[in-house]
Amino acid sequence: MIPQRVIEAKRDGQTLSPQQLTELLTGYARGEVPEHQMAAFLMAVVFRGLEDEELATLLTVMLESGAVLDLSHLSPHRVDKHSTGGVGDKTSLVLAPLVACLGGMVPMMSGRSLGHTGGTLDKLESIPGFRTGLDLGEFERVLGRVGCAMIGASERIAPLDRRLYALRDLTGTVPSPALMTASILSKKLAEGINALVLDVKVGQAAFLPDLEDARALARTMVRVASERGVPTVARLTAMDRPLGHAVGNALEVAEAVRALSGEGPEDLVQLCVELGAEMLVTGGVEAGLDTARSRCRAALASGRARERFAALVEAQGGDRRVVDDPALLARAPERAVVHAASSGVVRSIDARALGWATVELGGGRRHADDAIDAAVGFEIQARPGGSVSVGEALGIVHARTPADLERGIARLQAAIDIGEDGGPPPLPLLLERIDAQAIRVRGAPPAH
Ligand code: URA
Repeated sequence: MIPQRVIEAKRDGQTLSPQQLTELLTGYARGEVPEHQMAAFLMAVVFRGLEDEELATLLTVMLESGAVLDLSHLSPHRVDKHSTGGVGDKTSLVLAPLVACLGGMVPMMSGRSLGHTGGTLDKLESIPGFRTGLDLGEFERVLGRVGCAMIGASERIAPLDRRLYALRDLTGTVPSPALMTASILSKKLAEGINALVLDVKVGQAAFLPDLEDARALARTMVRVASERGVPTVARLTAMDRPLGHAVGNALEVAEAVRALSGEGPEDLVQLCVELGAEMLVTGGVEAGLDTARSRCRAALASGRARERFAALVEAQGGDRRVVDDPALLARAPERAVVHAASSGVVRSIDARALGWATVELGGGRRHADDAIDAAVGFEIQARPGGSVSVGEALGIVHARTPADLERGIARLQAAIDIGEDGGPPPLPLLLERIDAQAIRVRGAPPAH
């Protein structure tokens, strides 16, 4: 196999044979195909896409690049959730302990920040001592003790996604339905789950902003996962504004703790209750969504979910005191409140620009070996459609240096559009639900 000939074939819109694709990917995994050729190949896939058979090959090679866990001895209700990526999306931090305390088992493998979106692993690592790099034995032990555990792809599990994910982050090659499907499902199928809930984002800050594109991605992922024996439900949800108020790693952990304590922002809590209920039903813990929703709300209100999160933090080496006292999380030295320069209605909040602004402040990576600054980011008080008066607080910028603070203030001001009349109505938080029945997937037996 000559890598550049495979790249050229994809660039020119040809369909690759399973052999060509497998040789390219395994060559990359072995270090024989260099990063620059893989980056060029990924860009060709962004423009040309993959046929179903090519996607199946890509997913199989990625999945089989590492261990595929069998956790059936731990629980019959092994269920996970994955999002296609958003700004301010801290739902995983709430959902893993929430579902675990209600009888599901959540072996969650997450990612780092990707493009303008934040990553669950970076958020968790803003908790002092928290280890996302557990070995697989420790992962199982935490799962057995706490009912959930949260790790990243590693040399042992989903190693090919680990490398491709990092490369895509830095080369503008995230927004591809095929690459997203293979990346997400290679991690999820390796976890040994028997049910999956997908949160497919729609709107200007989603990787696939357009509703039609997001729907097609959701249908592909539901079909492929279901055909491989994991019953899957996708929810299409709004990402035309940040989720909750906080954007930035430690700020998002603090907000997730508030949600786990029954004090969360309304949109975050509503989304967590909905996705949590889907996880309980798809995972076979509950029979109906209404009861499952009530159980989720009750576990948040009573502090049970928060207590489970504290247990998870402790089990993974983190300082559990942050759950009672989020002031122990990193705090940026420079902070400023941004005020409205005029009165009016918030027409829109550019969540994508705020995501990139967080990267600029140091909360995400420009280069592969960049360290993440856990403390920086934004707290956004304005909401699309809300009225503001001149001088009212729109949000707070958290920055490392005075120069960064000035830049952050300018970015926040530019991201919030205030006009005399409202803009287009914000998307409903919950848009559509897609399951295997909706797309008539040929029934594959659930993998228990
Ligand atoms: N999340 C992933 O794990 N992979 C993607 O490609 C996008 C979001």
